[in-house]
Amino acid sequence: MESHRPLSSRLDSISPFHVMDILARAKTLESEGRHIVHMEVGEPDFPTPEPVRKAAADKLAEGHIHYTPAVGMNSLRERISRYYKDRFSLEISLDCVGLSTGASGALQLLLAALLEPGDRVLMSDPGYPCNRHIVTLFGGSTSLIAVGAESRFQLTAEILAKNWRSGTKAVMLASPANPTGAIIPYQSMQEIYQLVSTQGAVLIVDEIYQGLTYGIEDYCAAEISPDIVVINSFSKYFGMTGWRLGWFLAPEWLLAAAEKIAQNLFLAPPTLAQYAALSAFHTETIEILEARKNEFAQRLDLMATELPSLGFELAGKPDGAFYLYADCHRLCGNSLQFCQQLLEHEGVAITPGIDFGSYQADAFVRFACTTEQSQLRLGLKRIKQFLASGAHAA
Ligand SMILES: Cc1ncc(COP(=O)(O)O)c(C=O)c1O
Repeated sequence: MESHRPLSSRLDSISPFHVMDILARAKTLESEGRHIVHMEVGEPDFPTPEPVRKAAADKLAEGHIHYTPAVGMNSLRERISRYYKDRFSLEISLDCVGLSTGASGALQLLLAALLEPGDRVLMSDPGYPCNRHIVTLFGGSTSLIAVGAESRFQLTAEILAKNWRSGTKAVMLASPANPTGAIIPYQSMQEIYQLVSTQGAVLIVDEIYQGLTYGIEDYCAAEISPDIVVINSFSKYFGMTGWRLGWFLAPEWLLAAAEKIAQNLFLAPPTLAQYAALSAFHTETIEILEARKNEFAQRLDLMATELPSLGFELAGKPDGAFYLYADCHRLCGNSLQFCQQLLEHEGVAITPGIDFGSYQADAFVRFACTTEQSQLRLGLKRIKQFLASGAHAA
């Protein structure tokens, strides 16, 4: 007899992350001796930069790893503020910088602080899937707005205006975006902010892939207005996913509200990670990170050159991040099945479009260039074999 499981109904609207199933299956195949080319994982494959590890090791040896203030140590908040000054000539006061447990923690704090039950949040489809689930957890409802290659998978003021719904509290954007790597041009961001602020809503811009842009000048949305809420993290450019440290820029009133929630939910962001992150901005660390960025650029070039010859269609080269969102409709009718079969037959792991929304999801897959070029080449060779074998059409 099935036992009673007193789970909350809010779980009903939380969908699983299919890529985790792909990853789990890939690990099983590896444990059975198969070689897998991993292009599914959205995190840099490099180790944490040495100066950052050294800073953590020194702090660990010293031993005082206690709680910090709920929105982080002032020394790191100051360092982040200086980063914005040096990089974007932006004056950000300490009271507007908060640290969090990854960008994920920042998203939770801010949405918890902003949303009333039933408030609507607009975001793009495709987009980063966790956002809609966090909104749901805090009682909000999401409107996913379909965007395709014609707007480079990004929202514009025009698209938002057409899809505006009453009760909209916030608009969430990411630039560069996951899964497409597309940047929202500065002027387009200005127009979006104009619309969102006129409607009395809050604009949240996730800049977690900032720094990983190729041949394009990136900017910070806070240059447009200090009222724009900015999310960032040590996970991607800084290559520190497992340290679980992110940050956000927000007007003082919102930061104070997020701080109150952080005091209750997390107490503090990870302390050791905060000490380590102080070294993330050092020149020697940045040199390492810039070399890695060049490597990502080469990997993206390689994949963007080769994938079209296999039948995948790309909406140009990505502006940033380390992903390629490829249209595979000429190769298959169901991208989830395509990913599963590709893994089983050829040992290549990629992510199905369904993980990023529902619009044209069956026709898209995401390649993460988070493995060496030799592995990417091997992956391409195996995909070619897979397509030639006809197994994908079976
Ligand atoms: C767009 C976007 N935002 C936020 C996150 C969460 O990042 P973090 O590791 O900082 O929690 C990710 C992770 O992949 C992401 O792609």
